[in-house]
Amino acid sequence: MIEYKQLGYIGLSACDTTAWRTFAGEYLGMQVVDGSTGGLALRMDDRRQRILLEPAQSDALAFLGLETAGREGLEVIAARFKGLGLDVQQGSPGECAQRHVEELIWLRDPDGYRVEFYCNPTDADEPFLPARPIGGFRTGELGFGHLVLQTLNFKEMEEFYLQTIGLRLSDYTDGTPFRASFMHVNPRHHSLALIEFNRPGIHHIMVEYNFIDDVGRLYDMALKDPESIAVTLGRHANDHVFSFYTFSPGGFMIETGWAGRLIDVDKWEPELIYGPSIWGHERHWLPPERRAAAQAILETAAEKGILEPTSVTRSPAFKLEDV
Ligand SMILES: [Fe+2]
Repeated sequence: MIEYKQLGYIGLSACDTTAWRTFAGEYLGMQVVDGSTGGLALRMDDRRQRILLEPAQSDALAFLGLETAGREGLEVIAARFKGLGLDVQQGSPGECAQRHVEELIWLRDPDGYRVEFYCNPTDADEPFLPARPIGGFRTGELGFGHLVLQTLNFKEMEEFYLQTIGLRLSDYTDGTPFRASFMHVNPRHHSLALIEFNRPGIHHIMVEYNFIDDVGRLYDMALKDPESIAVTLGRHANDHVFSFYTFSPGGFMIETGWAGRLIDVDKWEPELIYGPSIWGHERHWLPPERRAAAQAILETAAEKGILEPTSVTRSPAFKLEDV
C-alpha cells in the first residue's frame, strides 16, 4: 500500500492576484508573502507556503502536491509509476526551490492537472504571522486542508486517484444530490474529493480553523456581502466539518471550517453516505431540482434526529495560550 504523509500544498493560476491578496489576508487571515516571480505565497502555518498563486490569464488549478515519506518514499512511488508505464517527469531545481522541497516528480491526471509528489519540505525561518488575529489553521501533519475537483470524467479521475495514485476511499454518494467520492491519505477524513459536474475545475478548497469563533467571525464578515456566500452555514455528513463557503477571486468556492473528523485509517471501511450535509449548507449554485433533493435529505436527517459527535483537536503548532 502506498503511503503519503499529506496533501501539503496546491498551486493556483490567478487572473487577479491583487484581489487574492485582500481575500487571503484580510478575509481568511492567511499570511501573504510576495513570491519571487510576481506571485503570492500564502502561509497557514510554519511551512513556507501552503497555497502558491501565479499570475495568469485564467483561473485554474496549476498543481497539487502530495508529500511522500522522505526521499525513500518518493523513490518507491517513482518506481511504481514508471512500472505502470506512466509519463513521470522530474521537477526542475527551480520548481523544487519555489516549492521549498528537496525533490519532486510529477505527472498529469486524466483532466490534465499536474500532480506533484515531493519530499522533505522546509519550514520558514520566521514563525507564522496571520494577517489578522486568528487562532491559526488546523494543518500540521493533516496537510493544508482539502481540495475538491469537479469533473466530467468522474470514473477515469476516480480510478486514477484511487488505483494509480493510491489514495484511499473514505466514502461516496449514490448521486443524490450529486455524485462524489472522498479520499484520504491521513486521519483527515478527506484531502481530495471528486464531484461529477458539467464542467471541469476546482469545486472548492477547504481550510480549517482551530477555533469555531474564527469561522463565526468570518461569517459575520461574509454577511456584509451576502452575495459572496455560496453555501450557508452547515455541517457535513461525512467529515462532520462545521462550515460555510464563499466565492473566491478565482470563481471557485472556499470552504472555511472547524472540527473536521479524524478517522482511524487502519480500520476505516469506505461507506455510502446518505447525503452531503446533516443540516444547513444551502447550495445556491445547485439547479432547483437538485436543491430540492438536498433539502429532502436534510429533512430526512432531521426526522431521524441524526446527531454526530464533535471532536476538537487543534493544530499542534497553535495552542490556546498563543492567541
Ligand atoms: Fe469540503
